[in-house]
Amino acid sequence: MQTKIEIKPSKRLRKIPKYIFAELDEWKEEARARGLDLIDLGIGNPDGCTPEPVVKAAVESIKNPGNHGYPDFKGKLVLREGIAKWLEKRHGISVDPKTEIQTLLGAKEGLAHLAMAYTDPGDINIVPDPYYPVLSRGTWISDGQIHHIKLEESNSFLPDLNSIPEEVAQKARMFFVNYPNNPTAATITKEFFKELVDYCRKYNILLCSDLAYSEINFDGYKPPSVFEVEGAKDIAIEFYSFSKSYNMAGWRIGFAVGNEEFIKNLYAIKTNVDYGTSSIIQDAAIAALSMDESYCCDITGIYQRRRDFMLEGVKKLGWDHRKTSATMYLWLKIPKGYNSKTWCKMVLDKTGVVFTPGIAFGEHSDNYFRTSLVAPDQRLHEALDRLEKANIKYFE
Ligand SMILES: Cc1ncc(COP(=O)(O)O)c(C=O)c1O
Repeated sequence: MQTKIEIKPSKRLRKIPKYIFAELDEWKEEARARGLDLIDLGIGNPDGCTPEPVVKAAVESIKNPGNHGYPDFKGKLVLREGIAKWLEKRHGISVDPKTEIQTLLGAKEGLAHLAMAYTDPGDINIVPDPYYPVLSRGTWISDGQIHHIKLEESNSFLPDLNSIPEEVAQKARMFFVNYPNNPTAATITKEFFKELVDYCRKYNILLCSDLAYSEINFDGYKPPSVFEVEGAKDIAIEFYSFSKSYNMAGWRIGFAVGNEEFIKNLYAIKTNVDYGTSSIIQDAAIAALSMDESYCCDITGIYQRRRDFMLEGVKKLGWDHRKTSATMYLWLKIPKGYNSKTWCKMVLDKTGVVFTPGIAFGEHSDNYFRTSLVAPDQRLHEALDRLEKANIKYFE
């Protein structure tokens, strides 16, 4: 009999906690097997179609043999020029398309790779909790440590900079923030971005702003870029995504903006591990950026309508949620007697409605759950009905 060979993955991989979304998938599979009709509000995967001009541009592009080879590592210059123009129009910021933009296989890839470019084993990076998982995982993959700052509702889910111990600030290399925020739907002002820039400048920390929800905004609110703060380019890098803004999550394209040095180091990591985004997808992204703004308004109009009736619906069930001005999420408190997993599992078993337990977004977030607004209106209404019928309510 042959002895079983065990080839272990690296210690750093084994240290990374299990992805809760994988466990959620197991719950869903089990529930489906029991015959439950699931209304899945656990994910943030846009349910709308990619705009027609973007699809058309991709179809034209694929016919061009020039687009069938490896793409340019940085992304096509014409795309980077389009991005620079868009940044000027949208945020009033001036960026050199040749040296200050890197196209990405989505913001997620760039965020992970940037952490690898700037973290040595044992280094500390700062990440607020709750957080989109990749904001910590890039550091862990690099064998670095995370200092989490708990985001409090009483502080509008913004990081309290005074809560960071001096020795952590002195040692920290990177500070990740994400506004509009997944999962809390909190937003940031330009003034608070300035506080963050000043803080990072004082302690010589690279400020990483994840602006993946830049275009999912309501009631006229426009999320700011960190680069609207004067001098931010010295200390900050920002990540953008086409996934939500143009319903392009499956196309895998985003970009990073920052000074030549930061972009050069991100590029250095990328050239060693990937070839960049397909030229076809880049042509589609060029078409997306040149579309009339009303396309994005059509997409956000749908989320805004869903936000309105979902806020009203959860209010009737006892949750007093503030009015959100961005993203496709609501962040709701767990009633007493449950943690986020026992609560979400109970709701799933009783109603077939899937929510994400807060613990998926950080160990300090076990007293919340997230619902997305990503399902057709009629299914969202049905989810609210099912909760009401099963007497699922918020109580202190
Ligand atoms: C906060 C945040 N950043 C980044 C991403 C990933 O963006 P992309 O699809 O461009 O990789 C997501 C996706 O849900 C997100 O919620």
